[in-house]
Amino acid sequence: MQIARFSKIGFIMAATGSAVGLGNIWKFPYQAGKYGGGAFVLVYLITVLVVGFSIMLTEMLIGYLGRSDTFSNFEKLAPRHKAKWRYAGMQAFSSILIMAFYAVVIAWVLNYIVTSFSLLPSSVAQAKSTFSGMLQSGFFVQFFYLTVTFVIVTAVIARGIKGGIEKLNLVLMPLLFLIIGGMFLYATTFSAFSHAVTFMFRPDFTKLTTTAFVTAVGHAFFTLSLGMGAIMTYSASLQKGQSLVKSSLLIIFFDTLVAILAGLMLFTFLYQYGGKPSAGPGLVFISLPVIFYQMGNVGNFLSIIFFIALAFAAITSAVSLVEPTVQYFMDRNGWKRTKASVIIGLFFYIFGIVVIMSQTIHFSSYLTWGGRNLFSWLDYLTAALLLPLGGLVMSIFVGFIMPKSQVEKVLRPELGFLFNAWYFNIRYIAPILLMVVIVSLLSAQ
Ligand code: TRP
Repeated sequence: MQIARFSKIGFIMAATGSAVGLGNIWKFPYQAGKYGGGAFVLVYLITVLVVGFSIMLTEMLIGYLGRSDTFSNFEKLAPRHKAKWRYAGMQAFSSILIMAFYAVVIAWVLNYIVTSFSLLPSSVAQAKSTFSGMLQSGFFVQFFYLTVTFVIVTAVIARGIKGGIEKLNLVLMPLLFLIIGGMFLYATTFSAFSHAVTFMFRPDFTKLTTTAFVTAVGHAFFTLSLGMGAIMTYSASLQKGQSLVKSSLLIIFFDTLVAILAGLMLFTFLYQYGGKPSAGPGLVFISLPVIFYQMGNVGNFLSIIFFIALAFAAITSAVSLVEPTVQYFMDRNGWKRTKASVIIGLFFYIFGIVVIMSQTIHFSSYLTWGGRNLFSWLDYLTAALLLPLGGLVMSIFVGFIMPKSQVEKVLRPELGFLFNAWYFNIRYIAPILLMVVIVSLLSAQ
């Protein structure tokens, strides 16, 4: 049972901190680049608004009414004879699967902050070899920064909802907005800015393949932290009377804003200095450092603050990935917060070490199956399957299992005449769309 409550602004910042992460600044730009820009962005925006908003509201409702860990929430809200629905709470555990590779990317980011102080790579070839060198033979560097990540995340969570999570987000989120906003404004002074705008907002539907479409939907889930009990666990500490609709809209607004600003900024720099938007996952770690190099001293400075912003975004998300499981062990097994934080922390830490090993020359062959190493399996399985599945389960739960009166009591006053549209959406439209996404993502690869 949650005793500590977020302040109103604390909740918005914490949930925004969860949503704004590597997904916005690392994944979104390279996916938009890969799938041709405008049309992908358009599909993404529509999904975020239509499905993302509805599912976020659904997830928040479960947390708000359940007031507990994910398992207990489902158990409490299901009619008595359907208590088996508590297993829907298992989605909290999948967040640890995300965390195992997410923490490794955080380790790279921390490493890049430090290296930004010295020489940046002067060519793409050099940047590539630095990056793949880190992956393939830089075990100890990654291990070191993974340890730092483990310590930070565990320490924050051990301090609890108010003293740890809320405080962290109240400090880091404004700083993050300041850095991304500032860098965006700087990017608008470049001549290539208009090129970036065209790329992101002029839809070219010939590029919109089925894969692009489902990737956009899958990404909408990932970026909003939906389907894994993160938003649900945070909203278990919501204050009574805080508007779920307004909170969801604000979080979605901030999340989208950061993705768009970061995308426009990165593409401006790329076009200005002759990089390619379709560089793939290496966009931020390979193309960008070369561009920063070409900018001279300003570049070093930009590189440092950029990777700091990325680290802030990622750490606030990481905390939300671990908290649901910690909450579970506190509520259901009676563990003290400190014990739960350390044990779950150790779990993702050790798992993370294996993930690092899966990309090194020595071990990759043991940790690769069907052409994917452990890192990309985790990334793929969580985004393609587990997140949409979590969303599917929640929409069925609220749409069909929970008594309508209970749902209506909270949301009808907030949504007004839109309540029926939302209810219809989570009963029929969202589940069908999510099933289509799951099936096509699984069969596409
Ligand atoms: N939303 C975060 C990002 O964009 C990732 C994330 C944090 C997440 N918590 C989550 C994704 C919970 C799914 C579920 O980087």
